[in-house]
Amino acid sequence: MSAAGVLGSTRSWFDRDVQFDHYGADPLPFGCTGARGIVQQFVELAGGQAGRSFDVLDASGGYGSACLGAGSEVIAEALATAVRQAGYVTDEIASAERSLLLERLFGPGGLFADRFPAADYRVSGRNSGSEGMELALRLVLESRFDRRLLRAVPGAEQRDIVLGFEGAWHGWSGGLLPLLNRRHYRVGLPAVAPEQFGFSTDHIPFGDVEAAQEWFDRNGDRVLAVMVEPVQGDAGILVPEQGYLRRLAALAEQSGALLVADEVLTFAKTGRFFAMSDDEGPIPTDITVIGKSLGMGALSTSMVIARRELGVRPTGTVSTSDLRPLTCAVIRAGLDHVVGEGLLERSAEVGAQLGRLLRERVVAPFPDLYREARGVGLLHGIELTEPTAARIGELRNCMIRNGVYVEFMSGAGRRSHGLRYVYPTMRVAPPLVVSADDVETIAARLAAGSQALRELAA
Ligand SMILES: Cc1ncc(COP(=O)(O)O)c(C=O)c1O
Repeated sequence: MSAAGVLGSTRSWFDRDVQFDHYGADPLPFGCTGARGIVQQFVELAGGQAGRSFDVLDASGGYGSACLGAGSEVIAEALATAVRQAGYVTDEIASAERSLLLERLFGPGGLFADRFPAADYRVSGRNSGSEGMELALRLVLESRFDRRLLRAVPGAEQRDIVLGFEGAWHGWSGGLLPLLNRRHYRVGLPAVAPEQFGFSTDHIPFGDVEAAQEWFDRNGDRVLAVMVEPVQGDAGILVPEQGYLRRLAALAEQSGALLVADEVLTFAKTGRFFAMSDDEGPIPTDITVIGKSLGMGALSTSMVIARRELGVRPTGTVSTSDLRPLTCAVIRAGLDHVVGEGLLERSAEVGAQLGRLLRERVVAPFPDLYREARGVGLLHGIELTEPTAARIGELRNCMIRNGVYVEFMSGAGRRSHGLRYVYPTMRVAPPLVVSADDVETIAARLAAGSQALRELAA
């Protein structure tokens, strides 16, 4: 019997009792009994309406990961075939599935070959975005010493700063903590020691060329790496102006620093595979980490793509999950489908329409609730006003009861260099399979949810 059939009512939502609470706020009083495409079946769990089930349009993709929505036949088929046929060899043994995927991506004419030709780059697979970023940090740190002798490369010790950005989020794991910019993520947790081979972190505001230039003028000879989200996600969907990322890449290169792009969130969400791009084409990076959509909503997986000269000490970062055949089969089937159906190109068009609708139908009529909408491709954010930021719980309930699911980002908060405060931001990032009609409905439901919040206050 399906999960929906087993539960069917409000009787037993045991996950609520035993799963960690990561949010520290009242849990949303809804359960999900199933989903197809971008339509999810929700049920009210409490209050007078308990047991009522209703459809909710998904404008989130499950933290930006389910790029094909729910129930993709292509992925179901790939998974079933791989379970039966692909085996499970680790990276100690070459695998036909792994070879096929990597050739499709990095071989001659491959999907990523213009940016990451196999002659210059190598890859590794991890379980999640956090783990991918963790491996990226290890590659950065180990670039300072001779991996065989475990001794400093002469002159490398002086490179001891990793530059991050105000409001940055790169994942939850321990090594990444110093790179996260908000105090509430870091206080009381391990800090990085300033000893030989230790490193410190610094943060500058994202998108401000002068702040970057000034920082490199002061610290250029000490910077080991720059870690950047090309569109800052948790900071509030901050999209830099044309030219900023290329300028940042040039500053990193001139000062001999490694450039790490965290494309865990942006992968396949900005109308192209990679957001480290501009009108001139790909912006070169030393390490790029992709995740979320890469797993097609069926698996949690990430990939670290690094220049060949970067590496780690033998067996230092072995992982049980490194590009297992089943994972490779799902990724290959999913990406072939995305390309074959022209989903990226279509998402750029539908995304432009979504951006317009958010500005005209959601932000403009509700200036008391929202500051602005911004975004690119299918990655959009609506920044809340200060009073709305204090009512996120109510806002979420209003949106869901009006049939649309969105998620909320912390916002960068206070920034330096005279830049304005960034309040929490509603992320509107539906799966790539969203249609032009769907985005009309999403915008209409967001407006209805906004109206409901306004009326609650009245
Ligand atoms: C930019 C960025 N990097 C890394 C991560 C961490 O990915 P995961 O949650 O898969 O560990 C996230 C997740 O939200 C993210 O948005």
